[in-house]
Amino acid sequence: MIKTSRHTGLIVASNRLPVALTRNDSGNYHIEPGTGGLISALLPVLRDRGGVWVGWPGVSGDVKNIDALLKEANRRSGYQLKPVALTEEERRKFYHGFSNEIIWPLFHDLQSLCNFDPSYWHVYQDVNRRYAEVLAQNSTDGDFIWVHDYHLMNVAMELRQIGAKVKTAFFLHIPFPPLDIFVKLPWRFQLLHALVEYDLLGFQTLRDQRNFIQCVRTLMNDVAVHGKGQVLTLRDSGREVRVGSFPIGIDFNAYVKRATEKEVADKAAQLRNFLPNRQLILGVDRLDYTKGIPQRLEAFRNALIRYPQLHERVTLIQVVVPSREDIPQYNDLKIRIERLVGEINGQFTKPGGWVPIHYVFRSLERSDLLAYYRAAEIALVTPLKDGMNLVAKEYCACSIEEGCVLILSEFAGSAAQMKRGALFVNPYDIEGVADAIYRAFTMDMTERHARMRRLRRAVREQDIFWWVDSFLRAAISRDLSAFPLPEDYVPQNDLGGMSL
Ligand code: G6P
Repeated sequence: MIKTSRHTGLIVASNRLPVALTRNDSGNYHIEPGTGGLISALLPVLRDRGGVWVGWPGVSGDVKNIDALLKEANRRSGYQLKPVALTEEERRKFYHGFSNEIIWPLFHDLQSLCNFDPSYWHVYQDVNRRYAEVLAQNSTDGDFIWVHDYHLMNVAMELRQIGAKVKTAFFLHIPFPPLDIFVKLPWRFQLLHALVEYDLLGFQTLRDQRNFIQCVRTLMNDVAVHGKGQVLTLRDSGREVRVGSFPIGIDFNAYVKRATEKEVADKAAQLRNFLPNRQLILGVDRLDYTKGIPQRLEAFRNALIRYPQLHERVTLIQVVVPSREDIPQYNDLKIRIERLVGEINGQFTKPGGWVPIHYVFRSLERSDLLAYYRAAEIALVTPLKDGMNLVAKEYCACSIEEGCVLILSEFAGSAAQMKRGALFVNPYDIEGVADAIYRAFTMDMTERHARMRRLRRAVREQDIFWWVDSFLRAAISRDLSAFPLPEDYVPQNDLGGMSL
């Protein structure tokens, strides 16, 4: 049921609620409001607009005291957290199934990894409807609903069917694929029709925006595309949809502040003492086949074969953060990575001395991650395709002395903003990446400084607050004028969960 009010509220929807729910040994749950760049950037706006965040609370089925826990988290976070309850089966088919075995691989151009199980689509529709119902129950006519990511592409359509008179915007955090890949999706028409039910559609890069527009032009007769594709009109209703690209950023200043704290500096120094007289090369990724970890390891091996000067003078620290463990491909990938690390170390290790790859498979404490960022002279960020890749940005923010080198995949969304400072590579080109490793290793300080300065400027100027601001301004610039940013909009300095 929709209530009415003059005040335009902000309601955010994402797959998960921004809370950390943990279970202690006696089986009781404990809740902490989430942190992280997106949350800290939205917090001032959410508080000002009496905001609500809708999402899955992190546990399926009945959790006895979940309502009481969320009330407690609401009190501490300053906005309302509203849960969408899902059964184990719904979670499996909606999150693991449709979202992560269909959309995730397809939108990263890896259609051969898709499992187009029709039951996934049915549950995806049901679950999106459930999100829409919770949103409708917690909104008033004229409110502004900002939906995040590929799990929730049908929400605006479901809201319209319920009769909610709200304005909606959607931001896709992952890439949007080219037409010839998108058309493989059995539900391509339904999905495009669902997306154009939003009032504003935001993509990470111009590349994604153009791909989307090409799909609309080719597959939707009932939609007119204007100009360069910033405005669409639905021929039946005359309703307009705005489309834009908004590259997401990080809380640059918070990273700089935390990276310069004594705890981080001490940990970074310890790492350097433990691995002296060499350059540290860092890879940090969520366990995911889109991140190109095996290809990167092969490139490192190739560099060690072709450039023996690197022996004992470099160490690759590869951190892999466990993720989506219930999906078979993720476990296969883990086995493949571990076999490669074993092989390469077996091939080059000097007994009692140099071990070329230090492999870490676990979630890291924030201060440990920052210490790795600070200690490493070279970062290898080589995804096969990535919506943005914030590791690249976080690494630059933490390069306080500006003497580090970023090797970046040309297929990461961040490449558009960072091409002037990074060493650009095609992650599939094993020899090319190996050459870039050697080039970074031998790069003099003058060039390193010049490059890193440019990179840091780009990351600082287009940070997470700039991103929230530009997205909301784009939303306002049409008939969402009832939604100004609070005059005293002050970014919160905060760091939080990993943004891999
Ligand atoms: C990507 C997606 C996010 C997602 C994150 C972690 O960055 O765009 O929506 O939260 O991966 O994946 P997970 O499945 O653990 O939420």
